[in-house]
Amino acid sequence: MRITVIGTGYLGAVHAAGMAQLGHDVLGVDVDAFKIQQLSSGHAPFFEPGLPELLRQNISAGRLKFSTSLKDAAEFGDVHFICVGTPQRPGSTAADMKYVDAVVQGLVPNLSRPCLIVGKSTVPVGTAARLATMVAELSPVAQVEVAWNPEFLREGFAVNDTLHPDRLVVGVTSPEADATLREVYAGILDAGTPYISTDVATAELVKVSANAFLATKISFINAISEICEAVGADILPLATALGHDARIGNRFLAPGLGFGGGCLPKDIRAFLARAEELGIGESLTFLRNIDAININRRQNAVDLARGMLGGSLENRRIAVLGAAFKPNSDDVRDSPALSVAAALQSHGAHVRVHDPEAVENARGAYPHLNYTTEVDKVFEGAELTLHLTEWQEYRQLDPAHLSTLVTAPCILDARNTLDIDHWRAAGWTVRAMGRPGR
Ligand code: UDX
Repeated sequence: MRITVIGTGYLGAVHAAGMAQLGHDVLGVDVDAFKIQQLSSGHAPFFEPGLPELLRQNISAGRLKFSTSLKDAAEFGDVHFICVGTPQRPGSTAADMKYVDAVVQGLVPNLSRPCLIVGKSTVPVGTAARLATMVAELSPVAQVEVAWNPEFLREGFAVNDTLHPDRLVVGVTSPEADATLREVYAGILDAGTPYISTDVATAELVKVSANAFLATKISFINAISEICEAVGADILPLATALGHDARIGNRFLAPGLGFGGGCLPKDIRAFLARAEELGIGESLTFLRNIDAININRRQNAVDLARGMLGGSLENRRIAVLGAAFKPNSDDVRDSPALSVAAALQSHGAHVRVHDPEAVENARGAYPHLNYTTEVDKVFEGAELTLHLTEWQEYRQLDPAHLSTLVTAPCILDARNTLDIDHWRAAGWTVRAMGRPGR
């Protein structure tokens, strides 16, 4: 099939390469000429394990091309996937739909034959219906349908999640659109992947409900973590014990600094904003608490750091491990790690941040912080170290060696993934969020 993927960010670039891998002829489209140039030469514009290989393989097979032109897209595709961002609207908690709308306004007047437009972006419920009206007004041809097919990929695992998803969800308004999407995903459906075909509003809601549930799970365990801190109990065995209950499950129950990134935080806010617009905000107000518990973790980390330094952050040298919002990503959007680092700096601390992949993006977002990509450098002279993003390589650090570099062997594990007994045995004073101090 001839498929276009419009928007080549964290979602679209992987989706384009994934569709080509399934054997389709794919045109990826973006307004960012530099990004298109990078992708055309087989370079991923962001860090995503496995993506460069997938791009190169499919570009050389002749199945994957890129363009900046929506006119090219209109001519090329029988199925057009919309993968542009829906960030938080400035000054509001609602989603900003300007990029999605711009795609429809730029694509549809150029269409010359029937096709299927499939939204993948995370949107307020009702968007597909609204876009269908817009399409009917703008399209020079009839038989252009709007479907919704939410994406559940996780950054860092995006290639695997695209090619081997847990489930496929499609919202359609005709059997023909359903048949087209089954054909698009035939390679995945052959593997027995669950396929849920429903109406467009339900498909839109599946995505925001999934993100709201995941965020709730994380904030739930973090709220319990605060109770643990208050009474000297230990959140890790508690979470393990909860997770053994098959009805609860152990995933997304990792206590620590909480969630960030370009999806969960803004998606729960936009979900609540949409519910309020619909007059049923009352039922979803718990999402405001989920958000508040999450943001509060960052303040808790700053308070713990201040306490570990004897009550003042002024002129103290602090090493921060991690800048990305989570490991295996260079994405720093709403990064809890950088938010804490910036808060410490604003209280007068001298902060140096290490990250294996995200330093360049971090520098763009927080230019006033100091950065290094050498792990030994971040420890040099530090009076306190904060472990804020749980990169695998931090688990392999040698605390005995690092204690020779720091001014004080003192660490806060805000992600609960370090072997704190090992660090303590090497002479470090260790605090971990939600775990008893010593
Ligand atoms: C998320 C959803 O998982 C995905 O389905 C959706 O499409 C987009 O949003 P992503 O933002 O890539 O994906 O990250 P994810 O791996 O889900 O983690 C989200 C955040 O939660 C990260 O900041 C992570 O550190 C945090 N997290 C996750 C926890 O704090 N504790 C956990 O137990 C799990």
